[in-house]
Amino acid sequence: MAYSREIYLEAMRQMEERRRKAEHDLELRRDDLYSREPRAREIERELVKISVSAGKAVLMGADKLSRLDDLKIKSLALQKELKDILDRNCLVPNFLEPWYNCELCRDTGNIDGKMCECMKQLLRQTAYEQLNRISPLSLCSFESFSLDYYPEDSIPSMNGRSVRDYMRGVLRFCKRYSENFDEYSESLLFLGGTGLGKTHLSLSIAQEAINDGYGVIYVSAPNILSRLETKQFGGRSSDRVEDEQLLQECDLLIIDDLGTEFVTKFTQAAIYNIVNSRLNSSKPIIISTNLNAKELENIYGTRMVSRIVGMLKRVDFYGNDIRQLKRYKK
Ligand SMILES: Nc1ncnc2c1ncn2[C@@H]1O[C@H](COP(=O)(O)OP(=O)(O)OP(=O)(O)O)[C@@H](O)[C@H]1O
Ligand SMILES: [Mg+2]
Ligand SMILES: [Zn+2]
Repeated sequence: MAYSREIYLEAMRQMEERRRKAEHDLELRRDDLYSREPRAREIERELVKISVSAGKAVLMGADKLSRLDDLKIKSLALQKELKDILDRNCLVPNFLEPWYNCELCRDTGNIDGKMCECMKQLLRQTAYEQLNRISPLSLCSFESFSLDYYPEDSIPSMNGRSVRDYMRGVLRFCKRYSENFDEYSESLLFLGGTGLGKTHLSLSIAQEAINDGYGVIYVSAPNILSRLETKQFGGRSSDRVEDEQLLQECDLLIIDDLGTEFVTKFTQAAIYNIVNSRLNSSKPIIISTNLNAKELENIYGTRMVSRIVGMLKRVDFYGNDIRQLKRYKK
């Protein structure tokens, strides 16, 4: 599983901050205690000296064993004295140790070279935050997706099946897709008019995949393409390459609103490269658009569209604009 580099860096920064905070808070507690109990400072200093001497004694060999015993006795007596001071001040026994968020890895994110659960959790949370920051809809989940918005009208091309019943099938399909998601899942093409739940369902899939620890990138076509274009022509083409790499390497890429971007030769080529390289390496991609295949072809040409239509599983959306419905209903 791979998250984007950006997310790793951010999670590592936060982990470092937790560790620093635990250590800084300890300094504050210590200063506070020392001001009330100056003897505590002396004891801590002596304990440090003892541990240095003990280290030396061990290095010098067996004849120093009796010296080691002496040091041990002294150290225990000092620890006892320190404990009494803490008791007297009604302080917890670990008052003079750092209070880490995670005692298992001491806020390093690693245990014996393996990633600690707390780091995995932090990565998930960071990915969520990033997703929600850039997406227009932060509360899109399967739970908040209601079938009530879809009419009972029948769809003539589907033997009279009702829109609602059809969309029930779409919802079931998307749920199953997200439950079984892995880095080799099939790619999807969401087609349909505005306000029918394409973005809502693609973000719901994204949140589930992130929960399962997958690296998901959600972009809207106009945003990402103008970002890449600005970097390319603003003398930062190496940044552009890095962005494109992330788009090509993440476990799931969601490109929303394809066809609403300002189309140039650059954007046509960029989108083709991203889609093509993911399809070549069988990495899943979900594309949403409210254009039909013919309209897509007019913009991107037959080569790209035949590839998309041929390789992605097509999911049509039906119904009435839910954005409008929500505006009028309470
Ligand atoms: N089935 C649903 N239940 C509850 N809310 C929904 C449902 N479908 C869509 N919505 C809400 O309606 C609004 C529009 O939906 P969404 O953005 O998913 O539409 P879309 O198909 O992506 O439209 P567009 O093509 O304009 O991007 C959003 O606020 C979304 O959360
Ligand atoms: Mg949308
Ligand atoms: Zn941990």
